[in-house]
Order: sequence, then C-alpha cells, then structure tokens
Amino acid sequence: MERPQGPERSTRPEVPQLAQEVLFADYHPPMKKPTVALVYAHPYAERSLANRELLSAIDDLAFIDRRYLYDLYPDFDIDIEAEQGRLEAVDLIVIQHPIYWYSTPALLKLWIDEVFSLGWAYGEDSKALAGKAMLWVVTTGADFKAYTPDGPHGHPFDVFVAPMRQTARFCGMHWQEPIVVHDSHADQAQVAAAGQRYRQRLVAFDAAHPAKTKHKPSESAAVETPALRGGPA
Ligand SMILES: Cc1cc2nc3c(=O)[nH]c(=O)nc-3n(C[C@H](O)[C@H](O)[C@H](O)COP(=O)(O)O)c2cc1C
Repeated sequence: MERPQGPERSTRPEVPQLAQEVLFADYHPPMKKPTVALVYAHPYAERSLANRELLSAIDDLAFIDRRYLYDLYPDFDIDIEAEQGRLEAVDLIVIQHPIYWYSTPALLKLWIDEVFSLGWAYGEDSKALAGKAMLWVVTTGADFKAYTPDGPHGHPFDVFVAPMRQTARFCGMHWQEPIVVHDSHADQAQVAAAGQRYRQRLVAFDAAHPAKTKHKPSESAAVETPALRGGPA
C-alpha cells in the first residue's frame, strides 16, 4: 500500500484538522531548504520540561526539518524511505532525546536500526550519511557527579556517549561535541542556557552551509567507513 510521505502524513487521524493545525503549528515553521534534520524522540513529550525548553530555543529556525518520531510514528511503523530521504537532503543530523536507561527511548533505537540500514548507511558503496555531521543533544535526570565510579551510575557519562558516537563514526559522519544537559529538572536556568548554546550551534552551522548541495554518494567516496556486511556487530 502506498504510504503518505513527509509531514503531511496524519499521525493522529482522530484529531480534527483544525485542532491538528493548532497542535502542530510550532512543529513546522515556514521552511527554507533545510540544512539540519532534527530527530526528536520523547515518549512523554507533553510532560517534558527539559527537552521542551531546549526545543523552544530553536523553535523559529526555518532551516530545520523536524522529525518528531513519537508524533510521526505512534505505531512504531517507521517509513524508512521517507526518513532516509529527509536525511539525504541535509548536512547536519541532530538527535535529541532524554536519556532512558543509559540509552535512547525505544522508538529512536528502532529508528536507528531501520533507517541506518545496510546498503544505505553502510556496506560496500553505501555511504549515504558519510560526510554529514551529527550532533547529539541529550538530557539526563542525574547530576554529572552521579556518573563516576563511586556514583550510582558507576561510570563517567562518556561511557554512555560511546554507542551513539561510534554509530555516527561507523557511518562516516563527523561527530560534533554533544550537548549534554545533566540534572535537567534541577535548574531551569541551566537548561535555558543550554538552549541558547544549542541555538547558537545550529545557527552557526547553517551559516557555514548556506547552499546545501544535495548529498551525492560520490562526494563522500574519500570518507573511510568500514564496509562490513551484516551490520556493525
Ligand atoms: C524510563 C526512564 C529511564 C531513565 N533513565 C535514566 C538514566 O539512565 N540516566 C539518567 O540520568 N536519567 C534517566 N532518566 C531520567 C530522564 O532522563 C529525565 O527525566 C529527562 O532527561 C528529563 O527530560 P524531560 O523533562 O524532557 O523529560 C530516565 C527516565 C525514565 C522515565
């Protein structure tokens, strides 16, 4: 069956059209050609404090293609081709979410499993993401001091950064310094300040990439990525 593409896809058919327009009005500000894809995963977005604050700091940036996964795919039935097409069109992929059990919310993990696929993201002559940048924006409940050998989380936070960083590198992407907001419910001013840094990073990136040329695999041929078959395991 043919699937609807892009933001037109109705993910909440029970909500009347007018109400949808109000609900999602801030998701899709007038677009110019996007340079950034924001992949946002929060299973309880309506209860979010920290991620909501971060999103509000970049709300008006018209160069962002927003992919709010739990709105787009409440049934976890990800439109892989649509997602890959949106990523191909941009230079920077931002992945934003609250940390859940030292990792991503479930739908984001599935999104990575399905979208970063063999024959597209990796494998011989498959480097659709190579040369793009990835920025990870993550909030935690715990203070950074909890992320020490003697703390309740037993390891420095960098240990939990490694899987996302290596995923990006495996696909030939340029890993950017992540924005990690620890203890994100303790200090609203801290989250607001992180939001401003987030905004500055995206604005600076867009300014440095004014004319997005559609990504061509041949352009990234020089980027070394492992050509494993059967996945990075
Ligand atoms: C299922 C679940 C798992 C969580 N796991 C972690 C964790 O491993 N480490 C941590 O510091 N916080 C953890 N938290 C706390 C969230 O990361 C924190 O509430 C969130 O970042 C706050 O952002 P928000 O206001 O946008 O929801 C967890 C919360 C939930 C609900």
